[in-house]
Amino acid sequence: MELAIRTRRLTKRFRHHLALSELNLDVPTGMVFGYLGPNGAGKTTTIRLLAGLIRPTSGSAIVFGFDAADQYDALQRRIGYLPGDFAPYPDLTAAQYLRYFANLRGGVESAGVDRLAKRFELDVTVKIGTLSHGNRQKIGIIQAFMHEPDLLILDEPTAGLDPIMQREFLALLRETRDAGRTVFLSSHILAEVEAVADTVGILRRGELVTTQSVEALKAQARRRLELTFATTPPMDRIRQVPGVQDISSDGCTAHVVLTGSTAELVKAVAPYEVTNLVSHEADLESVFLDYYAAPR
Ligand SMILES: Nc1ncnc2c1ncn2[C@@H]1O[C@H](COP(=O)(O)OP(=O)(O)OP(=O)(O)O)[C@@H](O)[C@H]1O
Ligand SMILES: [Mg+2]
Repeated sequence: MELAIRTRRLTKRFRHHLALSELNLDVPTGMVFGYLGPNGAGKTTTIRLLAGLIRPTSGSAIVFGFDAADQYDALQRRIGYLPGDFAPYPDLTAAQYLRYFANLRGGVESAGVDRLAKRFELDVTVKIGTLSHGNRQKIGIIQAFMHEPDLLILDEPTAGLDPIMQREFLALLRETRDAGRTVFLSSHILAEVEAVADTVGILRRGELVTTQSVEALKAQARRRLELTFATTPPMDRIRQVPGVQDISSDGCTAHVVLTGSTAELVKAVAPYEVTNLVSHEADLESVFLDYYAAPR
């Protein structure tokens, strides 16, 4: 398994403030890794360390085998980076800005830039200073992707994008992953992470609280189901099903709160006549919020 990112005891201290503490993280190539955590948790700090923009106080950040802090030049072409506070020069047009950075980096096909601009419906002919926040963010996305880097390091990339553009952007991330490239993104939008990430890392006060597949997180999530039976619900039978947390009935309908798979429940009620089954979305948000809030 080739690693795109490997950090060992990666630590960053700003004066007396410990922004990131002994982070150990392995991100294999070909995946979307979602990096979550409350404000001030240290996400941007991690991202800037990975992009080689700041030096660790101690520990190491290795990207494709290179030290991010010391071998910046070797990595620059292989990384696409979108800062959280992306602010391109207001006096240039987007076309001028993108051409400038394309030339600086080299290896950028202008057809690819045009394709991205069209995809995100960006008018590249007007001055950046006159563009809306979301449209400026599109320039940041294009400059991160335009040289087809092996690793994208993106700090809250969808900030300011409207829902249609967000969806387009998530599609771009999936295509990138399917092409075997790697995406590391920080986000506050849980639905977006759930939709696109393979694995998530949750950071809290500079410490990694957990890394898990999105599937495993979903398995922890509580899900509400309503099962309507032809006669009185078999409450005792349902109560015995693994993962059932709570159960109540009203008439012929049983209301069930369940964690994990619904397979066992479905099996348990198979002998009874179920006339209707409603399954509500797993409440992933509460799982995230538990990790955000409680020390474990
Ligand atoms: N240059 C700096 N000087 C001093 N403190 C800093 C600096 N950069 C970050 N910090 C502190 O480090 C901590 C982590 O900040 P960071 O920006 O990494 O958080 P974040 O997870 O990206 O938060 P957000 O979700 O708000 O973007 C914060 O307490 C912040 O105040
Ligand atoms: Mg941040």
